[in-house]
Amino acid sequence: MGSNHQNHAPNEVVVVMVPLPAQGHLNQLLHLSRLISSYNIPVHFTGTPSHNRQAKIRVHGWDQTSDLTDMIQFHDFTIPPFLCPPPDPNAPHKFPSHLLPSFEATTLLRNPVAALLRKLASETRRVVVIHDSLMASVIQDVGSIVNSESYTFHTVSAFTIFLYLWEPMGKPPQLEGVDVKIPDNVPGLEDCFPDEFLDFIAAQYEYMKYNSGNIYNASKTIEGEYIDLLNKLGDNKKHWAIGPFNPVSISEKKEGGSNSGTRHVCLDWLDKQEANSVIYVSFGTTTTMNEELIKELAIGLEQSNQKFIWVLRDADRGDLFIEGEQVRKAELPKGYEERVKDRGVVVRDWAPQLEILSHKATAWFLSHCGWNSCMESITVGVPIACWPMHSDQPRNTVLVTRVLKVGIVIRDWERRDEPVTSSMVKDGVKKLMGSGEAYEIRKRAGELGTAVRKSMGEDGASRVELSSFIAHITR
Ligand SMILES: *[C@@H]1O[C@H](CO)[C@@H](O)[C@H](O)[C@H]1NC(C)=O
Repeated sequence: MGSNHQNHAPNEVVVVMVPLPAQGHLNQLLHLSRLISSYNIPVHFTGTPSHNRQAKIRVHGWDQTSDLTDMIQFHDFTIPPFLCPPPDPNAPHKFPSHLLPSFEATTLLRNPVAALLRKLASETRRVVVIHDSLMASVIQDVGSIVNSESYTFHTVSAFTIFLYLWEPMGKPPQLEGVDVKIPDNVPGLEDCFPDEFLDFIAAQYEYMKYNSGNIYNASKTIEGEYIDLLNKLGDNKKHWAIGPFNPVSISEKKEGGSNSGTRHVCLDWLDKQEANSVIYVSFGTTTTMNEELIKELAIGLEQSNQKFIWVLRDADRGDLFIEGEQVRKAELPKGYEERVKDRGVVVRDWAPQLEILSHKATAWFLSHCGWNSCMESITVGVPIACWPMHSDQPRNTVLVTRVLKVGIVIRDWERRDEPVTSSMVKDGVKKLMGSGEAYEIRKRAGELGTAVRKSMGEDGASRVELSSFIAHITR
């Protein structure tokens, strides 16, 4: 604040974004900010200084980061320091519990956010708040500001949201006469979330009363059936499924990424590989593996004799920029990188995932199945080899492999307590290349990707939904 942004004419509508400070969530609301600002609506993005910085430096696919600060006004709200423990590679469950203090600390954003809302409300016709579904408590003051309204943004799949709502209803087989089709034996939530996180979610419920509608980062082309079913749950709220909207132009599988500026070395390596020959391996920003698991995965990948790019990183910390803390460097077997260098690349820094996935050399994505990763992969038509770790990932695996049939299970969630061996990894990875089934899946993934990209175009379903949302908030 205190910036010299020009004063906007009264009578205007402004949007205020309130993200949950975890990468997969920050990323989505930042993309939505850009989309909304392209309609000439001023967008204000709120967060702690570190989380805003994280969102900005990690954005990929946009040509210039400076675009970002021209279009979006960032509000850095300082809160007292919070605990920032490193992730525990040996924790019994893979949920990133070390992030909980940073989530809880965000409740302290309530006052600065409220002050911003009041100020904007006094200057404009309507203040529209878009907040992560886990940040409802932060925006509770919307209830006392007449010309403001709030919308809940859901960063997970419509399929998993539907299950969260449908299961407590007793799983009715039909809704308004429409059959509910859910595959058998969908895994329960056991070991997906720790109790502290469930408490954090529950603490948001009472503030949902200020909600004027729901926005899903979901595409009708991918999950149309479940988006329709969500609409039948009858809360009389408006729903918009505004879909992937990937920032880079990825309409063609092309050589290299589109970005100007410094290009990641792994993309140069990919340029030299044959089409559909490389497996991209990454477990996202919330998974930490212990030494044994890393070793088995390393050996399995090596023995599979397949080409790969492996992003080997620990989960993010609650604050990426905390001073004086060493990030663990996971150990690989001795001489490993040298041994595999003709076939594999290990990346330890921030990888340009969307560009890797869009590269024509990339054949498969071995993934933890976080929703961002699933959507990016589906959008570019790359099939997913699923190895779910926690949260919504086991259920996303069901969606990918049994509903959409654009993926294969590499590591069955039901067997999560059994040790992983290198031969399991090797066999699983080998299965991806060659066999008839894998080929069929890859073909289907390609077709779905084409359909999704079409829906992202000018008259596509996603664009129509977004325009409808914009029309609604500017009414
Ligand atoms: C939805 O998620 C995808 C995958 O991360 C992202 O590329 C896209 O920009 C998101 N869409 C919106 C509207 O936030």
